[in-house]
Formats: sequence, structure tokens, C-alpha cells
Amino acid sequence: MNNSIVDKNWWKDEVIYQVYPKSFKDSNNDGIGDIPGIKEKLPYLKELGITTLWICPIFKSPMVDNGYDISDFEDINPEFGTMLEFDELLAEAKSLGIKIILDLVINHTSDEHEWFQKALADKNSKYRDYYIFKEGKEEPNNWRSIFGGSVWEKVPGEDCYYLHVFDKRQPDLNWENEEVRQALYAMINRWLEKGIAGFRIDSITFIKKDQDYSSLPADGVDGLVSCKNKTRNRPGIESFLSELRRETFDKYNCVTVGEAPGVPYEEFPQFIGDDGYFSMIFDFHYADIDVESGSDWFKRTNWTTAEFKELLMNSQHALQDAGWGANFLENHDQPRVLSKLVKEGFRTPESAMGLASMYFFLRGTPFIYQGQELGMLNAERTSIQQFDDISSIDNYYRSIEEGFTPKEALDFVNLRSRDNTRTPMPWNSSQYGGFSEHEPWLAMTEEYPEINGKSNSVLEFYKQIIDLRQNSNVSSILKRGSIEFLTDVSDNVVAYERSLENQKVYSITNLGTNVEEVQLPKAIDKILLHTHELNRTESKITLLPYQSILFN
Ligand code: GLC
Ligand code: CA
Repeated sequence: MNNSIVDKNWWKDEVIYQVYPKSFKDSNNDGIGDIPGIKEKLPYLKELGITTLWICPIFKSPMVDNGYDISDFEDINPEFGTMLEFDELLAEAKSLGIKIILDLVINHTSDEHEWFQKALADKNSKYRDYYIFKEGKEEPNNWRSIFGGSVWEKVPGEDCYYLHVFDKRQPDLNWENEEVRQALYAMINRWLEKGIAGFRIDSITFIKKDQDYSSLPADGVDGLVSCKNKTRNRPGIESFLSELRRETFDKYNCVTVGEAPGVPYEEFPQFIGDDGYFSMIFDFHYADIDVESGSDWFKRTNWTTAEFKELLMNSQHALQDAGWGANFLENHDQPRVLSKLVKEGFRTPESAMGLASMYFFLRGTPFIYQGQELGMLNAERTSIQQFDDISSIDNYYRSIEEGFTPKEALDFVNLRSRDNTRTPMPWNSSQYGGFSEHEPWLAMTEEYPEINGKSNSVLEFYKQIIDLRQNSNVSSILKRGSIEFLTDVSDNVVAYERSLENQKVYSITNLGTNVEEVQLPKAIDKILLHTHELNRTESKITLLPYQSILFN
């Protein structure tokens, strides 16, 4: 008899590492990262201690949005390798005890996808209804796409437009069409059958559009209005998401991580509750603290640490009440966290450790984005020509259109560009950082001779925090314990308690630029982790800016 119990919540115990394949490791020296490169670096990831890899899109793609524009869901982009090489990566990772999850992009395809090509070629083909085409001499409404300009693109030679929430080369699939949904489900199941552990699910809250397709009052000088109002987390999405889960994920013991911006906290139970659509979701409420909206970078905020802390606490409470969260500081769409959350003059390895210690022990599954574990910084670029990211280019020109100077526009883009985290991974201080022997597709960060994978104190610290969460006598508390924030501390101090069956672990971090004195919630038994030199008495601890301590 097989009495092994299948743990449906195994993903709560994982530490997930995000790889941006184009920038991780180039194995054949063409300047572009690839699948054999990832395989080559598995021992590094094993030593780091992570248990699951999330690899950003590796499918066939013209790479307009670096793979988030898929032209064949079931083939590998030749720049990255072959299906055989992917299978080898999967097998090798498995032998090291590392699971792999892939990026599932099903809101849209590339315009080079066969379905879209057939839809364009023949207006009577059934593929027209795979996408959202509207007849007319003018754009059907005034919605602005996420990457700028109208969501509507004219079909050459016809009085007809198709809808794209992202770039014009990323036409949206028509989820109202049952045949489209079934085709996607079959594709998803084939990947799960192959043995991947699950998916990170891209832009999934955009699959339902308000069927009235009506205009709204403009919110910019371009006369357009953000399409999010009519295309993101709209009524009716529930039936698509329940069906998606039922037809695919439910049949496997897999993990699903939803990229679900725009979901209010009241709706978290539907998304991540016991019968929720996903295992966990990313919550962007505090990640986007520096901008009013993740897609309008000229709308910067003057955020304070107190506000950040408030958003973080709200987020953790909402996730705990509803289910489980995916905790992250960085990803391929965000700036480097050290540049975003730490004030100038304090961007040191110790501060990187302080941030790491602050977020890593929150309740949820921690995600680490490549290079975050090295304490990397944003790249400062001097001209818009140096950017690759389509949304950087759009934000630059939109800022100017909104009345900012080119210099201001460049500053906004430098602060927020998605290219900040897409720079090649620096493995060492040699030319091109050991990423490649060829000039990389995107320039390395300036500091790579100092900040790289060779002898790096932040990296050693990440190994320590991973080991504490995964393999120590406080692991179960850190993995499965509940969270409660301590309120008797300064606005600049994030302090929380994790507890499980009367056992507790405390985390206290100073996120401000002043020295803070904190009354300890109890006498320290054991210091599990600390970032800067300790200065404490029996009852108090004095924390330097960005200093963090974990104890029980
Ligand atoms: C998600 C991805 C982003 C991509 C967009 C369109 O937000 O994270 O990189 O550009 O979806 O697929
Ligand atoms: Ca390559």
C-alpha cells in the first residue's frame, strides 16, 4: 500500500527563484542568455538553496516584449535553445531536487502566431473570432493600451480594428470564444504532462473585457483613458478563471502563481482561498509605492516609509485572511529594490541584507529575482536610445507629451525602466561579467566589476536566510506560521511576529534613514540573523538605517 500523503500545499514550503532567460547566462556566446546557460548554473542555484525556478517565457517569439509575445506555445525560441535542451534542463533540475515553473501568457499572443496570421489573411476564417476584431472606419473607443497609444490597431486594407491591451504586436485573445479557451487548456495540460511543476500566470486579470466597449472620459493629453478601467478584473472574469482552474490546474498537483494586479482585497478569497483560482498571487499594492500607476511613470509619488509599512501590513493581512501570497521585492518589470526603496547614500550591501531579511520571513512563498541576491542596483542611462524595453520608450515620449522636459522624462524612465532588472547577470568581474564572451544584448550594470556573483556578502546572506527558512529548527514557524505586526514601534520600523503552536520568531527592520530605538517584545533567546553590528541591552535594541534582526 502506498501511504505517502500527497501534500496539496507543497508550494508553501518552496523558495522560488526567477530567471530572465535572456540575461541569465549565455552558453554559446551570441550575447543572449539561453537554456543551456540556465542548466550550467543549476549548481549555483542549488548552492543558493532555492527549490523552484520560475523561468520567464522561453517559447517561440519575435521578442517584441522579450517573449511575452508568443508565436508558438509549444515550441522553444531558437535564441534560447531547443525542446531537447529544455527537457535536459528539466531532468537535470529534477535530479538536483529543483522544480521548474514556466510563464503562462494566455491573455494575448504575438501577431506572428499562426492563429493571428490566419485571422488577418481571411476575414471569414474562424480565427477572426479567436481575437477581438471590430468593424468600423474609426477606433471603436478611446482606450489607451498599457504600452501607450490606442488599444486598437487598424487591419491593413480593411475598415476594421483589432484590440491589444499591451503592444500592437500582442493582439488579445477572445476569451468569449469557447474554442479558444479549449485550445489554451489543451496546451496548458500538455506542458503539465511534461512534468513542469506549474505556472506563473501572466496578466491574467485582463482576460475579460467589458462587452459594451464604450469610451470613458480621457485621463491624459492624448485624449485616451487607461484601458484598465474596462479590461482589468472586470465582472464575468470569475467564470473564465474557475473554468481555467477546473480544466487544467485542478487535474495536477501543481502550483499556480497569478500576476493579478487590480484585484481589491475583498476579492482575494476568490483568487487564493481554498477554492480559489490560484495557489497564490503577487500583490502589487506596495511594490508600486513610488508611482501612482505601474504604467504611468511620470506620476511619481512622494512616498514615506510609514506609508510603505502601512501598505505592506494591509497586504499581509489580506493575504493571510484569504489564503497565501507570493512575496517579492523585484521582478523583470520592477526596478532594483535597493534603488527603489533605499534612500541615496544608504544603498550598501548591508541595506540590501536589511531589505532581504524584512521581506523573506513574511508569511507566504518568497521569490528572489536573479541578481537581487547580489544586491544589484539600477542602471543609469543617458539617452533613450540606450533602452530596449518597449514601455520605457513609450513612457519617455508620453512624459514629454504630458509637458515634462526630455531630461525629466529620462529621469522617470531611469527610475522605473524594466531594463533595470533585465541587465545581464554578472557572475564575476571579467569582461561581460562571465555572462558571455560576446557583447551582451543589453549593457551590463556599471558596478558589475564590484557587484557580481564572486565573493559577495549579500549572496552569502541570502544563502543564510534561505537555509534558516528551509532547514533550521525554526523552519516550520517561518514557513507555515501566522503573522502579526508589532504596533509599539516607530513608523519607520517594520516589526512582526511569526507564530506556530506557541513558538515564535520575531523580525525587526529599520526602513528609515534615522537610528531607531526599539523596545524588544521579549528578552532575546537567540539571535538567528542580523545585518549590521548589534547594539542592544536586555530590553532594547538600537537599529541603524536599514538594519534588520531576526530572533526568538
Ligand atoms: C506582464 C509581464 C510583462 C509583460 C506583460 C505583457 O505584466 O510581467 O513583462 O510585458 O505582462 O505580457
Ligand atoms: Ca546564447
